[in-house]
Amino acid sequence: MERLGRVIRKVRTDDHEAVSALVSAAFKRDDEAHLVQRLWAEGAVKFERLVELGGEVVGYCAFSAVTCKPELDGLLLGLGPVAVAPTHQGQGIGEAVIKEGLKVCEENGARLIAVLGEPGYYSRFGFEAAAKKKMSWAGFDAGDAFRIIDSGDIDTNEIRTIHYHPAFDDLS
Ligand SMILES: CC(C)(COP(=O)(O)OP(=O)(O)OC[C@H]1O[C@@H](n2cnc3c(N)ncnc32)[C@H](O)[C@@H]1OP(=O)(O)O)[C@@H](O)C(=O)NCCC(=O)NCCS
Repeated sequence: MERLGRVIRKVRTDDHEAVSALVSAAFKRDDEAHLVQRLWAEGAVKFERLVELGGEVVGYCAFSAVTCKPELDGLLLGLGPVAVAPTHQGQGIGEAVIKEGLKVCEENGARLIAVLGEPGYYSRFGFEAAAKKKMSWAGFDAGDAFRIIDSGDIDTNEIRTIHYHPAFDDLS
């Protein structure tokens, strides 16, 4: 996808250094970059996209597999991290890369996509409070900040917890 010199594309191995630097800069610490590096090392990233502007990597988002208890069939994904270069925030780059990432997930038949983040930001992409579908994050009670997009065919009579890849446990 290309718009105003902005390219959204797949991530190659030779992008890893630039993506790591971007993620560290966005979060102002290295924890999230280390998370992404561990996900890469373990082959746990299912889908990811970056935004390039003038040859510079300025945006990134990743989707990794999550699991449900009790179990749920199908492709279940967690969005995160999402990062935009501090100098380029507030210009729609986060929105563009998330939308493109969600499109890829949906094209691949994702049944559920979870996110832990600012409700006001993620609701614009269609993420609804997971509690509405009796789902919660296994980490801690994140309330309204734990949100999902689902395919609409999930039996909501069951109460479920959603577990991210263990690499996320290292984040504080
Ligand atoms: C959060 C982040 C990815 C958003 O990307 P962005 O390109 O700056 O955001 P966009 O330009 O697409 O969207 C801007 C809108 O989002 C809102 N927004 C941005 N960050 C927000 C946040 N943390 N909480 C709530 N709203 C936020 C802005 O107020 C703005 O709202 P408006 O459209 O009503 O004016 C980016 O700011 C970032 O990398 N932050 C640091 C890392 C982080 O917190 N990542 C998310 C957690 S995984």
